[in-house]
Amino acid sequence: MNGLAIYPGSFDPLTSGHVDIIHRAVEIFPRLIVAVATNVRKHPTFSEEERLDMIRESLKGLERVEIDSFTGLLVDFAKERGAKVLVRGLRALSDFENEFQMAHMNRRLAPGIETIFMMTSQEHFYISSQTVKEVAHFDGDVSGVVPDAVRKKLTAYNKGS
Ligand code: PNS
Repeated sequence: MNGLAIYPGSFDPLTSGHVDIIHRAVEIFPRLIVAVATNVRKHPTFSEEERLDMIRESLKGLERVEIDSFTGLLVDFAKERGAKVLVRGLRALSDFENEFQMAHMNRRLAPGIETIFMMTSQEHFYISSQTVKEVAHFDGDVSGVVPDAVRKKLTAYNKGS
């Protein structure tokens, strides 16, 4: 085991829940790649570059974390980067079915790659990128549930700039 793990996601946008998982994952794995998926079936609100910028800004100074993006299958990206572990955060029971399917499909595609789940912290379990965008859209206060760089970007986005 080379100690390299990947934390993949849409990150559309990054939330405080994601940041919490990243901070905890980097305490377990010597190196972590936060990997933005570019070809998700969902139509992202933010472009790949915008999502990467928000992550870079929010994780500034965090050591042993690399930020990257990938197109195509996650397991192919993991193989390319030599990672044997995928990290996923689990919030409520509702996440489980989808995560269960993904983990099994990924294992079938790449038996040497393991998915590890981390329970989202109590204060973050209700946060999703989707709800954050909706609250921000109606001018609700999202401070604390997203990093400051994301809050600013959401405000600018809603003002049409
Ligand atoms: O943040 P999300 O939207 O829950 O992340 C889902 C993601 C991006 C990890 C997943 O959709 C993915 O891995 N997409 C890449 C394509 C792929 O490998 N699909 C097969 C998964 S079984």
